[in-house]
Amino acid sequence: MADFVKVAQVADIPDPGKLMLEIGERLVVLVRVEGQFFCIDDVCTHDGGPLGEGRLEGHEIACPRHGAKFDVRNGFAKTMPATEHTGSHDVKVVADAVWVRVRDGAGGDAPSAAIGVKQLPIGAGHAGGHGGGECCGTTPAVVSAAALAAAGSATATGDVGQCALDNLCEDLIREELKRVIDPELFVNIVDLGLVYNVDLTPVPEGGTKVKIDMTMTSPMCPAGPQLIAQCKQFVGQMAGVSMVEVKIVMDPPWTPEKMSDAARDQLGIF
Ligand code: FES
Repeated sequence: MADFVKVAQVADIPDPGKLMLEIGERLVVLVRVEGQFFCIDDVCTHDGGPLGEGRLEGHEIACPRHGAKFDVRNGFAKTMPATEHTGSHDVKVVADAVWVRVRDGAGGDAPSAAIGVKQLPIGAGHAGGHGGGECCGTTPAVVSAAALAAAGSATATGDVGQCALDNLCEDLIREELKRVIDPELFVNIVDLGLVYNVDLTPVPEGGTKVKIDMTMTSPMCPAGPQLIAQCKQFVGQMAGVSMVEVKIVMDPPWTPEKMSDAARDQLGIF
């Protein structure tokens, strides 16, 4: 088994918070919850989604692609569409430093004795997800641990990449809406193509009004009220949002062509 390697200072990671790491050739997520540290692979076992970009709630982290949840304490898959656990690793805190020992197993090879460690901004290291691409005109880049430290802990805690450091924007809203999962198809409403339009309007009293135009897969979709309520709940909890309006539009009608490639993959449609 590989040795422990020092990966961060305790102060680098807020509580709760997370930090993406490259240890050897392995991408992992170091998570801090209620004073304890955990480390799991940055790989959703459903389809390789970047867990480090997911939302952390208690001890669960949700894949930003289709919403599968994993327990950060052991990597166990908790909800569909993931059915297999992701890798988890040993963590110890010595003085003010956090050390990780990568275990052999699913998710990649254990690092060799000469282990390199990089701290990564959320989204920088993952080819399969939001990371590595552009978000609101900013491009995440791999930076050194020293640069991260100089930038402060905000870099280590964002949920959806560099957008999290910027103002509220449509991309952020759409990322948040990926938490809303169609209960019959187990695919999020954004990848299903149900979200037609997102408008942001400043409110004179303060904050931003978010207006979401969305549709349903059918006019009589029984999940409609649940999906609307979750849209309002999740977006309404975002910092800077003062009001959420969800309007159901049936024109143009939804068709399977509106689904993203990720949704097609998930549903086995080619
Ligand atoms: S890739 Fe994570 S839920 Fe699909």
